[in-house]
Amino acid sequence: MNNPTAKASIEKLETYKPNFGKSKINNLIRLSANEGALGTSLKAIKALNSFTQNINRYPPQIGDDLISAIANRYSLDKKKIILGNGSDELISIITQAFLESTDEAIYTEFGFLQFPQAISVAGAKGIVAKDVNFTANVDNILSKINKKTKLIFLANANNPTGTFIPKEEVIRLHKSMPSNILLVYDAAYSEFINNDDYIDGSSLVNNHDNVIMLRTFSKLHGLASLRLGWGYCSEYILTNLMKVRGPFSVNSAAMLAGIAAIEDIEFQEKSVSHNLEWMRWFEKELKLLNLDFQTSVTNFLLIKFPNNVLNSAQNAVKFLAEKGILVRGMNAYGLPNYLRVSIGNEEENIIFIKQLKSFLDN
Ligand SMILES: Cc1ncc(COP(=O)(O)O)c(C=O)c1O
Repeated sequence: MNNPTAKASIEKLETYKPNFGKSKINNLIRLSANEGALGTSLKAIKALNSFTQNINRYPPQIGDDLISAIANRYSLDKKKIILGNGSDELISIITQAFLESTDEAIYTEFGFLQFPQAISVAGAKGIVAKDVNFTANVDNILSKINKKTKLIFLANANNPTGTFIPKEEVIRLHKSMPSNILLVYDAAYSEFINNDDYIDGSSLVNNHDNVIMLRTFSKLHGLASLRLGWGYCSEYILTNLMKVRGPFSVNSAAMLAGIAAIEDIEFQEKSVSHNLEWMRWFEKELKLLNLDFQTSVTNFLLIKFPNNVLNSAQNAVKFLAEKGILVRGMNAYGLPNYLRVSIGNEEENIIFIKQLKSFLDN
């Protein structure tokens, strides 16, 4: 009679379902998940093809080779790098390792949805700090701090808005928060950002013990399917995260591909310049279509649709899916009249804009 029940904090939650869209068309153009526009580095694919031995063996628990490759690439301290099964896993284990059920964790209004999900799964209380003009706001974050605050999540740049807060604001936030609060600085899109006002958070980690920077191989490096992310933090934080992380959560294939990808600077540079070039093109085309959008430093754009029902974002998502183009509706973020579109390859971008135009002309 009495079936086992999940914890009350889990039972009341919805499963996090990133809605990448559906279409009956086979040859899909998928611009709904902020994945790399140019696919994957050929060097990473070659490394994966060579992965034919020791498949029966467990992967290394720590992943020294990949950690060294990351440390070399970005001039970082090896001892502060932790690998994860995607940065999603790191977000989860941070909340599990640091949040008691009586704690609060702050996240920003249109911040990445995994933050509130992970906070709730950990059984703690999520507190929203309002954005200003779709951008995280330091004063609003600071105003939410109280004695119960344990964590602050900041995606900089943020998904789905594409906006970022400048270096001085990040430093002001860090300086103004008590040092017993952990700042989780999610820099998933940092490699795309070409702006002197931006910091990826690594210098904060080098100088302070209450910051963790998160990075991913899913975006610039095009390795989303392998699930590979990394964090940069104090050895104290790292040691405690390793107690929670599955001992073998990062697999050997992902590590091999990750090393090849991070060393393939040519592919990275090509991807960044492709993104910048097509971002400027998207901006121009969207203006011609009279659509509002947030200026984005990432590899995606948040587009606002007119308020009339016919031309709504939700109808656009359906219309585009029928043409085989997947974009991301923003209902889950409480933004029903917006959609998010990733920068694709040249052909995909041109087809997307052409179909968007024909939708608006309807
Ligand atoms: C801000 C942000 N953080 C983290 C992630 C998750 O990345 P990963 O694929 O490494 O789990 C995403 C993916 O969309 C993201 O946008």
